[in-house]
Amino acid sequence: MEPVERFQLDALAYLQCALGLLGSVVLRRMDSAYGRYASPGPAFRVPARAAWALQELPSLAVPLGVCAGTAAERLRRAPNRILLAMFLVHYAQRSLIFPFLIRGGKPMPLYTFVLAFMFCIYNGYLQSRYLSQYAVYADDWVTDPRFLVGFCLWLIGMLINIHSDHILRNLRKPGETGYKIPRGGLFEYVTAANYFGEVVEWCGYSLAGWSLQGGAFALFTFCILFTRAQQHHQWYLEKFEDYPKFRKIIIPFLF
Ligand SMILES: NC(=O)c1ccc[n+]([C@@H]2O[C@H](COP(=O)([O-])OP(=O)(O)OC[C@H]3O[C@@H](n4cnc5c(N)ncnc54)[C@H](OP(=O)(O)O)[C@@H]3O)[C@@H](O)[C@H]2O)c1
Repeated sequence: MEPVERFQLDALAYLQCALGLLGSVVLRRMDSAYGRYASPGPAFRVPARAAWALQELPSLAVPLGVCAGTAAERLRRAPNRILLAMFLVHYAQRSLIFPFLIRGGKPMPLYTFVLAFMFCIYNGYLQSRYLSQYAVYADDWVTDPRFLVGFCLWLIGMLINIHSDHILRNLRKPGETGYKIPRGGLFEYVTAANYFGEVVEWCGYSLAGWSLQGGAFALFTFCILFTRAQQHHQWYLEKFEDYPKFRKIIIPFLF
């Protein structure tokens, strides 16, 4: 069975790359339909906090189930444990902390919620199954420059992401639901500082793990967030006359 499952995990990773590329094409044609772009129709919606907590939870629950349900042989090795911990730390923050800090977030359309929920099951399974059963690293992988640089990028990216989400949240006073120009931190350089942090984080994870599965997740994240960042950038330029014109979209000093 093992070679078959190994092949399946590679196929799932290639499919994730294809979904990311397809997602960016589809999102270019229709705005990512949540937050400021959610149309005010009668569609069924999930309150923002519940939506974020529930849709992201599989990224935490599925890996824990995968590791508890089988003899996770590879998790005896330090690199595998650290890489899985990197994934879990992010999603513990995203599903257990981030939702409860949201201020005035727009309710999530049901289909967006379902898609995000399914993606988290898919990716949670892909990353955790690969790391717990198949990823093989040399004993000294944790001192390899790829692991060290990747780990630092992951940590810096996560801090940028959390700090930038904090800046966005604090633009609103309790009870407010409108939008203002973000100031401070990396928002002085880019429109989507929170997405920049998230992209750096998963590129770091991918570099540290040096695997098709990690690379597929980083590519998927970049495709989706770059497209949404472009939409945000255009939206700010149209909505605020005094929006700083020198700000890039997502990568400081580049684009
Ligand atoms: N890995 C992935 O593929 C992926 C995909 C999507 C998101 N994420 C992550 O999930 C987190 C949230 O994503 P998101 O797409 O919801 O981010 P977002 O559009 O930047 O919004 C984040 C929060 O800040 C509020 N907000 C944004 N801009 C604001 C402004 N100018 N003034 C006042 N409030 C503002 C939003 O309120 P409203 O809801 O009212 O707009 C929302 O509650 C981010 O950290 C992102 O990196 C990851």
